[in-house]
This record gives sequence, structure tokens and C-alpha cells, in this order.
Amino acid sequence: EWTMAEFRAAKIAEIREQVGTGRVICGLSGGVDSAVAAVLIHEAIGEQLTCVFVDHGLMRAGEADQVVSLFRGHYNIPLVHVNAETLFLSGLAGVTDPEAKRKFIGKTFIDVFEDEARKIGGAEFLAQGTLYPDVIESVSFTGGPSVTIKSHHNVGGLPERMNMKLVEPLRELFKDEVRALGRELGLPDIFVGRHPFPGPGLAIRIPGEVTKERCDILRKADAIYLEEIRSACLYDAIWQAFAVLLPVRSVGVMGDGRTYDSVLALRAVTSTDGMTAEAFGFPGDFLPRVATRIINEVRGINRVTYDYTSKPPGTIEWE
Ligand code: XMP
Repeated sequence: EWTMAEFRAAKIAEIREQVGTGRVICGLSGGVDSAVAAVLIHEAIGEQLTCVFVDHGLMRAGEADQVVSLFRGHYNIPLVHVNAETLFLSGLAGVTDPEAKRKFIGKTFIDVFEDEARKIGGAEFLAQGTLYPDVIESVSFTGGPSVTIKSHHNVGGLPERMNMKLVEPLRELFKDEVRALGRELGLPDIFVGRHPFPGPGLAIRIPGEVTKERCDILRKADAIYLEEIRSACLYDAIWQAFAVLLPVRSVGVMGDGRTYDSVLALRAVTSTDGMTAEAFGFPGDFLPRVATRIINEVRGINRVTYDYTSKPPGTIEWE
């Protein structure tokens, strides 16, 4: 049985051995896996690593800033932050089909990343935060026919196209082990314990057309929901919690006026691997309090609902 300190030391030696004096590029997503991989690789090879954060503008409130300040500020790791919000939002204009959103975002993400990798130049290695479950999943995908319910995007195909070799130091680890390694490497709790977040981001939490205005409305509501979850000490008991901005308007009253605004759905699930999930049962006064805060504080929302659907038959995300 290895301790995380031993695993860390062994991996550092392995990365040095694999990379030699070569240069490595690592794409950051804002999630735990890519952050842990990057910090570990940086510890092994220092300035030979450059991180690239393609910011599609579809992150939650404050998350892009957290990535930038963690890497540049806390760790002093060279980071290229590409603000591609306009590119992503203009390409999403008029797109309402969930899979079309994923395809566009996945493709654009790779295009932007590839451009940046070219600009950096001379890197022969691409680092990825691939985990053991990802390894098994991709094997079973090629093993037989499978029905794609939702296509998850990653940078598949890019290493071959750019003729790069992969550095995947987390390939033997499960999620909880990556978290332990992250703690060992000194990553802040807010990063290490973070709920999973889908690659296409808020785009698949805004059924219908994604606009800057709707992203901003959703970000505000989602931030209030998560703030209340954290202050009630429920964050770690939940697998994922998020808000979904519905393409439905409802009538309400506020003061002496009639309102006609968007409906928001709140979702929170428990799960061990994301394959099955149950709606989280909040204590009695929690949801009414969150609903009141959101309706009072976020312009554009006048009704809040809670989603009780299990997976299956539902999925965790709405799209
Ligand atoms: P579903 O909605 O299929 O989600 O029950 C299962 C888990 O996968 C995440 N998810 C995604 N992650 N790209 C991702 O990187 C995607 O397109 C995507 N769709 C869903 C979801 O947040 C949950 O953790």
C-alpha cells in the first residue's frame, strides 16, 4: 500500500524520465483533475511546462479568476489564459440542440487550444488529467456498439494531429485518490473538493439559445444557490448542485406590478460515480430560503423550482 507522498515522489521521477528536457503543454479546465496533473508536472519539470486555459466564458461566477490566480499567483506556473468568450458565444447564437452545442464547443475548444499550442511552439508532450475510470471507459467504448446519450468532449484526436506524446500521470487513480494527491500537493480545498463540472459548462444548463445575458442571469442565481449550500455545510454531502435557466416564462407579482420572467430549476444529486444519481433531500427551510433570495436578488427570474428526478430515468444535467 502506497502513501500519497510516495506516489507523488514516484510520479515525479517517472515524469522526469519520460519528458527529459522536452517541453510540455497542459490544458486546464478549471476542474480538479487537470489542476492536479499540472501542479504535479510542474513540480517535476518546472519551466518546461506551460499551461493553457481556454476560457469559453461558460464557467460559473468567479471560477476563471480562481484558475488564473491559483496558477499564476499561488504556484507561479506559466499560464496562457485565452479569453474566448466572444468566439464561443457568437458561434452558439441560434444553436438550441444539446448535441449541436456540445459539438460546437468541443470543436472550437480544440481549435483554440491547437492555435495556442502552435504559438507556444516546440512542445512534444501534451499533458492530460486522465483518470483510471476514463481509461476503462474509452476501452469499453471501442469494445462494442454503444449508444451515445451525450457526447463528452475532451481533446481526443489532438495528440495525433499535432504529433504529440501524452503525459498522463493520473491514469492509475480514482477521483478520491486525485483529491488526496491534490491535498498532498497543497491545492486549496475549494479546488480539491470541487463538484464535477461539465466541459460545455453553462451552455448545457441553459436549454434553448445561449446568450451572454442568460449566462449572466444563471451565474448570479447559481452563485447564490452554492453560497447557501456552503454556508449550510451541505456542499460535501452533494455530488453536484447547480441551477438550470429554463426557456419558460411565468407570471408573478412583485410590489404592485405584474412580472413575466424566466423560471429557474435547482438541481442537487448524490452519486458515487455519476452513472446513477438520486435527488438530494434538503432540510425543510433550505429551498424556500434560496428561492426567496434568488427571486429578490436576480433580475429576470421570478419563479424557482426543484428537480426531484433520479438518474435513471433522468440524467444529471438537463441537456
Ligand atoms: P449526465 O447528465 O449524463 O451527466 O447524467 C453525468 C456526468 O457527466 C457530466 N457531463 C459532462 N461532462 N462534458 C463533460 O465533460 C459533457 O458534455 C457532459 N455532459 C454531462 C455531468 O455534469 C455529470 O457529472
